[in-house]
Amino acid sequence: MRFYLDHAATAPLRAEARDAWLEASSVLGNASSTHGAGQDARRLLEESRERAAVVLGCDPIEVVFTSGGTESINTALHGMWGSREPGAGTIVLPDGEHHATMDTVAALAAEGAVVQAVPLDSVGRIRVDAFADALTGAALATALAANNEVGTINDSAGMSAAAADAGVPLHLDAVAAWGHVPLSFRDLRADAAGGVGLVAMSIAGHKLGGPVGVGALVVARTARIAPLLHGGAQQRGLRAGTQDVAGAAAFAVALELAEAERATETVRLTALRDRLITGIRRAVPQAELLGDPVERLPGNAHVLFPGAVGESLLFLLDMAGVAASTGSACQAGVAEPSHVVIALGRSEQDARSVLRLTLGRTSSDAEVDAVLAAIGDAYTRASGARSATRS
Ligand SMILES: Cc1ncc(COP(=O)(O)O)c(C=O)c1O
Repeated sequence: MRFYLDHAATAPLRAEARDAWLEASSVLGNASSTHGAGQDARRLLEESRERAAVVLGCDPIEVVFTSGGTESINTALHGMWGSREPGAGTIVLPDGEHHATMDTVAALAAEGAVVQAVPLDSVGRIRVDAFADALTGAALATALAANNEVGTINDSAGMSAAAADAGVPLHLDAVAAWGHVPLSFRDLRADAAGGVGLVAMSIAGHKLGGPVGVGALVVARTARIAPLLHGGAQQRGLRAGTQDVAGAAAFAVALELAEAERATETVRLTALRDRLITGIRRAVPQAELLGDPVERLPGNAHVLFPGAVGESLLFLLDMAGVAASTGSACQAGVAEPSHVVIALGRSEQDARSVLRLTLGRTSSDAEVDAVLAAIGDAYTRASGARSATRS
């Protein structure tokens, strides 16, 4: 693939993270063993935890390494539900969350949880006032720091303060946002009294140039979270199992680099993204940017192509060497209409006519040019595809 515009799905592995992984993977020893080899592994693991904690804005003990975003979210939500206050039975779930969250909450609903939805506004934002209203008497709440499909950035500090005011434990899914938006766990918890409010935050390494298969759940020291996995007592007993020392080392390096580059990359990617959006609109005047035009992830262009089949656009761009995404899930090989686009108040047809183009560290002007050269023709043909499927 010559032109990669799907950084939100997974970002290219950083050479520094790969080097850190290779070096650490030759360290022999289980980090829980008491012999010298085990202690060497332990030292490297804890050093990685400390480095991660510095950039995540938390104490090292609050970093729980996981296998990625999905495990972090499952651990947080099952764990918060498992240690809820007696009598509290509601989970606050905004519309348009990632499937890892929606499906975990659905599993908890099957165990008796009552789901309290929070509608999104027309640009895909969780409004803090609507979120705060939903919190009354809730057992727990969860929210995206930024929407992974349409790219709209939410007010994490506002939601954290609302949860602290309501005394409701909050989990923040920062998988799409971290590294693009300043998010310090400590700062976000500034208003939390007695440990309630924001208690957990999910991150995935592969969205930042770390390897697939490692991530973190930041868990406040004072949080009450029942373990999802049972076995050893590793990581405060919150995540049993032999720890992945090499993965943690690579993840820490990726986190540090992402944070170090954030300010300059935000400026560069915002300019590149805006050129992409302007060029698409010029080539396809009917095209419409979804999500907030300003408060959006720097590398995210999420575009509605009225009347076109998103899957066909994807295929035609792929033929032109461009990797993109519709952003929504595939069930048995068939693209689902995007639940996020529907949550914006759009039709099911619109929810099948979107394309998500996401830029990142390796993105260049040449990649934007490749999309702009291909999109007009792809739109004409993908719109024909809809007429053909209708007839
Ligand atoms: C916002 C969000 N949450 C959770 C996930 C799941 O993360 P992972 O693929 O690391 O399990 C993703 C991945 O696309 C995401 O974008």
